[in-house]
Amino acid sequence: MARAHLTAGLTTFVAVAVIGSATALAGPDHIGARRCGACHEAEYQAWRKTPHAQALARLSEKQQQNAQCRSCHTMDPWSSDPELAGVQCESCHGAGRAYAPDLVMRDEELSRLMGLEKITEATCRPCHRADAPRLRAFDYATLVKQVNHAEARTPRRAPAPAQP
Ligand code: HEC
Ligand code: HEC
Ligand code: HEC
Ligand code: HEC
Repeated sequence: MARAHLTAGLTTFVAVAVIGSATALAGPDHIGARRCGACHEAEYQAWRKTPHAQALARLSEKQQQNAQCRSCHTMDPWSSDPELAGVQCESCHGAGRAYAPDLVMRDEELSRLMGLEKITEATCRPCHRADAPRLRAFDYATLVKQVNHAEARTPRRAPAPAQP
């Protein structure tokens, strides 16, 4: 299935992708899915079953070292921390160091101010690029349902465990 990405003529697409996504996706403020999962267990377990969780692990060892592939297949391309590997919570919800503390998370407005992002099609586009070759078109309205945890919600207002 390595197909499309490896065909000739993709060099430009990949190079532009790397430059375009480096600022948006790289960041020192990621805490990793396991720490989000301490309070959002159901979402964590649901996410672990999605291709996003395995997006880096499924590449060959050589590809995992390739900066171009890393720019989309892992959350923080510049980090070798296995806790940050793959397309994680914070790839969509925003880097979480500042909003993850319980008191911040419980305040919707404050958590937005601290970097919890609203998810739109623009969240996906740095990786799911319109010019990327793929077997079927990226239809946001359909595909977002596969990642929105609709089947797996940690009950709201449950007492939260101690802060990480
Ligand atoms: C210390 C516990 C804790 C940690 C750690 C935590 N959260 Fe939360 N989160 C909460 C609580 C509590 C709420 C509010 C839920 C409620 O009571 O309605 C919340 C709400 C949310 C919401 C919903 C916001 C909304 O307005 O709909 C998202 C999305 C979210 N968290 C993502 C994350 C991500 C991503 C991480 C890791 C970077 C994370 N959380 C880490 C406790 C936590
Ligand atoms: C611009 C972002 C981007 C870059 C750069 C990128 N990929 Fe991907 N890759 C994706 C997305 C998004 C998907 C899944 C959706 C799709 O099929 O388009 C994917 C899917 C794949 C798949 C298929 C998984 C499957 O189940 O079919 C393989 C294999 C893959 N990429 C390998 C690579 C390799 C190797 C590189 C580096 C040479 C690379 N990718 C670079 C975004 C990217
Ligand atoms: C591919 C993008 C993506 C990833 C990765 C992702 N989420 Fe979400 N998440 C969404 C979308 C879309 C929604 C629906 C609500 C919205 O649009 O903001 C959502 C909603 C949520 C909510 C609020 C609704 C609810 O379920 O109670 C929480 C909490 C949450 N996510 C936590 C997480 C955690 C924790 C992880 C990692 C283990 C994670 N998410 C990974 C896209 C994502
Ligand atoms: C950091 C880059 C990145 C972001 C951001 C991202 N994805 Fe992905 N996504 C990928 C990669 C890479 C794959 C391929 C994983 C694999 O198969 O190994 C993928 C695979 C998927 C898949 C499963 C394969 C398919 O095409 O059916 C869905 C569904 C998906 N993404 C939806 C979304 C949605 C919706 C968003 C935005 C809310 C989003 N993704 C955000 C990189 C990303």
